[in-house]
Amino acid sequence: MCGIVGISAHRDVVQSLISGLKSLEYRGYDSAGIAVLTGSGIERLRAKGKVQALEDLHAASGIDGHVGIAHTRWATHGVPSEANAHPHVSGPVSVVHNGIIENHAELRAELREAGYAFSSQTDSEVIAHLIAHALRDQPDLLAAVRSVLPRLHGAYSIAVMSSDEPGVLVGARLGSPLVAGLGVGEQYLASDIHALLPMTRRFIYLAEGDVVRATRDEVAVFDLDGRPVEREVRESHFSADAVERGEYRHYMLKEIHEQPQALADTLEGRISGGRVLTQILGVDADALLAQTEAVHIVACGTSYHAGLVARYWIESLAGIPCTAEIASEYRYRNPVVRPGTLFVSISQSGETADTLAALKLAKARGYLAQLAVCNVPESSIVRESSLVLMTRAGPEIGVASTKAFTTQLAALGLFALAFAHAKGLDEARYLDGVRQLEQLPGLVAETLKLDAEIEALAADFADKQHALFLGRGTHWPVAMEGALKLKEISYIHAEAYAAGELKHGPLALVDADMPVIAVAPNDALIDKLLSNLEEVRTRGGELYVFADHDVGSRVDDSRTLVMPACGEIAAPVVSTIPLQLLSYHVAVLRGTDVDQPRNLAKSVTVE
Ligand code: G6P
Repeated sequence: MCGIVGISAHRDVVQSLISGLKSLEYRGYDSAGIAVLTGSGIERLRAKGKVQALEDLHAASGIDGHVGIAHTRWATHGVPSEANAHPHVSGPVSVVHNGIIENHAELRAELREAGYAFSSQTDSEVIAHLIAHALRDQPDLLAAVRSVLPRLHGAYSIAVMSSDEPGVLVGARLGSPLVAGLGVGEQYLASDIHALLPMTRRFIYLAEGDVVRATRDEVAVFDLDGRPVEREVRESHFSADAVERGEYRHYMLKEIHEQPQALADTLEGRISGGRVLTQILGVDADALLAQTEAVHIVACGTSYHAGLVARYWIESLAGIPCTAEIASEYRYRNPVVRPGTLFVSISQSGETADTLAALKLAKARGYLAQLAVCNVPESSIVRESSLVLMTRAGPEIGVASTKAFTTQLAALGLFALAFAHAKGLDEARYLDGVRQLEQLPGLVAETLKLDAEIEALAADFADKQHALFLGRGTHWPVAMEGALKLKEISYIHAEAYAAGELKHGPLALVDADMPVIAVAPNDALIDKLLSNLEEVRTRGGELYVFADHDVGSRVDDSRTLVMPACGEIAAPVVSTIPLQLLSYHVAVLRGTDVDQPRNLAKSVTVE
């Protein structure tokens, strides 16, 4: 995690560096720092807390310079503090780092031996000292950085400058993202393009192992051996507005309301004449789907919940075995991969360390192909996969995922239906499923109209310590996603249970202080679910039910909210919307930091 920005220009870059950091705060926000080159050497400002604290510090004791690097941190080694905040400095060198240097203890001992003193507890500080040491016998900063990289075990993206080479920035990446931005008379480095969109739309996405040298006038990319390499310059179609909060109080609320458009964008051009265009999975998709006899889905967090929904769809529609698994578990066991198995990774960012590692392992495990369902086109997971199905949610800034999840479900719905059709799904069910996907933007827009009613319900939760979410079938993972949303942004302890499992333990927790939230679709399990809800009611539980229109009248409770009527594909998407709104409003009432909840980060690029 952690966000990096670097700028080399003919103007004072401090304000641009700080603005860049603000758009990278989703990557971490426990401390921030900046270093610029001034006439008298490197000047540095660092502050514990959010980028705002750094900005306040700058307002009080301003620095300025034409070249600089900046960092927003999510602590791994060393507590969040000013001393542990980046940039780290050694002699003329200053460094910002994202990732983990696994052999830092060994390097630290070696550097201490060589006379270097450490001023932080971080793994990153070793990089600054190693480069400063290398500069003793390397001709320049680029050569010094290159000579040090093979010594770093783990994952990194770095930006480095030296007071001995004013105007030069050197960057490198391995296992963590870094882009170079191309301007006119100024050039940039950053963890992602959003930090740079106000300044440029032209980017080079650095490949694994690339080293880059940026001056005001040019960007040059090299491989680890120092050979120049050509990298394509890409034009981004995103404007800086895409990452603005606009009229909304929080990014999360904006992103919840963007879902009808994000779903429409994700489906656009992928359905024609009421059928899914199989070419969306690549030119050889028909042959691939015909050969596929099993599916392994791997993901983390919210994306894992999308995978769990897809598992139900794939087994029920295509009749093909499917597993969905957490990436950090998958990567450390030995899964049995039978011939004809397709590997599917799901990731909003495309950079999640565990998912990426699982994908890399999968490539050596004899899968038929690796399909990525992802929201970031140039991400590592997209690049490493043989097939790609992009969600088109647009940038998601709120740490709690909303539109990324529902667009993942839409993309997985397309995949499940195309796959099931290839496996002989009944025509009427297939056409009905595709129709449901097409209706999603409208259904979600309709469901968003429940906002005011849900806001009123939220008051009941503001003083609660615990909550239980129930669902069955595809709505069990929807309940898991609802519980995750509530806990991550309101800090209320929330658990999700398959409703049939209630009587095997969690029912013991139910009393007037434990609100129970259930999602009640109109599906084959509805009678079973209603019986489970009765079990809660008879034990004095406070029930909140989000029910399909055709089920609503059967739920005998004043705290029932009725959603539009939906079929099996649309229902998990539609049922997710009230759970997002509920968590949002509860968090606002409790006064938590909705977009940047404590201890979390959006892009988890460390293990
Ligand atoms: C973090 C985010 C979650 C996200 C998870 C997986 O924990 O806070 O919102 O679901 O990472 O991220 P990915 O980018 O792989 O979907």
